[in-house]
Amino acid sequence: MRIAMIGSGYVGLVSGACFSDFGHTVTCVDLDEGKIAALKAGIMPIFEPGLKEMVDKNVREARLSFSTDLPTSIADAEAVFIAVGTPSRHGDGHADLSYVYAAAAEVARAATGPLVVITKSTVPVGTGDEVERIVREVRRDVTIDVVSNPEFLREGAAIEDFKRPDRVVVGAESERAKMVMAAIYRPLSLNSLPMVYVSRRTSELIKYAANAFLAVKITFINEIADLCEATGANVQEVARGIGLDKRIGAKFLHAGPGYGGSCFPKDTLALVKTGQDHGAPLRIVETVVSVNDQRKRAMGRKIIAACGGSVRGKTIAILGLTFKPNTDDMREAPSLAIVTALQDAGAIVRGYDPEGMAQAKPLLPGMTFAANAYECVTGADAVAIVTEWDEFRALDLRRIKTLLASPVLVDLRNIYLPEEVTRYGLTYASIGRPVRETPVAALV
Ligand code: UDX
Repeated sequence: MRIAMIGSGYVGLVSGACFSDFGHTVTCVDLDEGKIAALKAGIMPIFEPGLKEMVDKNVREARLSFSTDLPTSIADAEAVFIAVGTPSRHGDGHADLSYVYAAAAEVARAATGPLVVITKSTVPVGTGDEVERIVREVRRDVTIDVVSNPEFLREGAAIEDFKRPDRVVVGAESERAKMVMAAIYRPLSLNSLPMVYVSRRTSELIKYAANAFLAVKITFINEIADLCEATGANVQEVARGIGLDKRIGAKFLHAGPGYGGSCFPKDTLALVKTGQDHGAPLRIVETVVSVNDQRKRAMGRKIIAACGGSVRGKTIAILGLTFKPNTDDMREAPSLAIVTALQDAGAIVRGYDPEGMAQAKPLLPGMTFAANAYECVTGADAVAIVTEWDEFRALDLRRIKTLLASPVLVDLRNIYLPEEVTRYGLTYASIGRPVRETPVAALV
């Protein structure tokens, strides 16, 4: 099938590349000439494991191409995906849909025959109806079906998530649209993939409900972690103890510094607004949004407490800046609030991240950057692990202890065992776990 993907950002590029890898012929379109020129030259605008290899292969095999010319790109397409950005609108947290509507109008103007237009961008319930109204207004002479098909890709694991999804949700209002969607996903559905066909509005809401539920789950375990700290219980054991109950499930129960990223913060906020607008407030999600915001700042206070209550004039090393590992994405990263809280308290902050430093630099003025983890901790009064990159999971703790000016390790991702760290003479603080002090002299 011939597919056009409007918007070559994270979702558009990954989805476009994966569809081409399944044998469809895909053109990824974007207004940004620089981005398209770079993609044509084989340069990826984002860091995503496996993406470049997949793009290169499918470009070579002539199934994937890039263009800034929307009309030509959709001329012989049977399906056009809209995967443009839906940022939070300034002031009220509503999703800004202007890019979606502009793309829909342009696609309708350029349509040369019957078309299925599929919204992949995360859009509030009812957006598909508005897209349909727009395309009907622009083109009465061509049949254009409007479908919702949300994505559930995780950054850093997006290709795996695309190729082996738990389910594909399709919100379609006509048989023709359902048939086109079935044909698009047929290569994936051969391994008995659950296709969930629902109404367009239901599909739009599924996406928000899924993200909000996951955000609730994370925030729940984060609050349980605080309670564990207050009572001497261990949050990892609590998570395992509840997660083995199949009704709860073990995933998304890792306590940490609060969720970030391009989706959870924006989507929970937009869902809260939708609930308020429809007189059906989502009070649990409202609370989750504010608990998570407060948590990021509280993590700064946790580091200060680990440093004896003051960081004025002290140097704090931060390992990991991106909102999670295997991405260079800094959007809503907990590190942003943490570094600011430390700087406000008078600390000198030095950071290192394996992939995110170019993105982090403009967002974290006043912070210095190190070339690697060991350079970052050299002479520092404490080190805090904020993102659980693999390369921080087996640091040489003996060396870290020697390089630090004072031996304090704050592990906001619980990647070490308390006894493993304290035996090197490091003072250790983590999330929701008791530290049993080991007699240092006996073990070092
Ligand atoms: C998320 C959804 O998982 C995906 O389905 C949706 O399409 C987009 O949003 P992503 O933002 O890439 O994906 O990252 P995810 O792995 O879900 O993590 C989001 C945030 O939650 C990160 O800040 C992560 O550190 C945090 N998190 C996740 C936890 O703190 N604990 C957990 O147990 C899981």
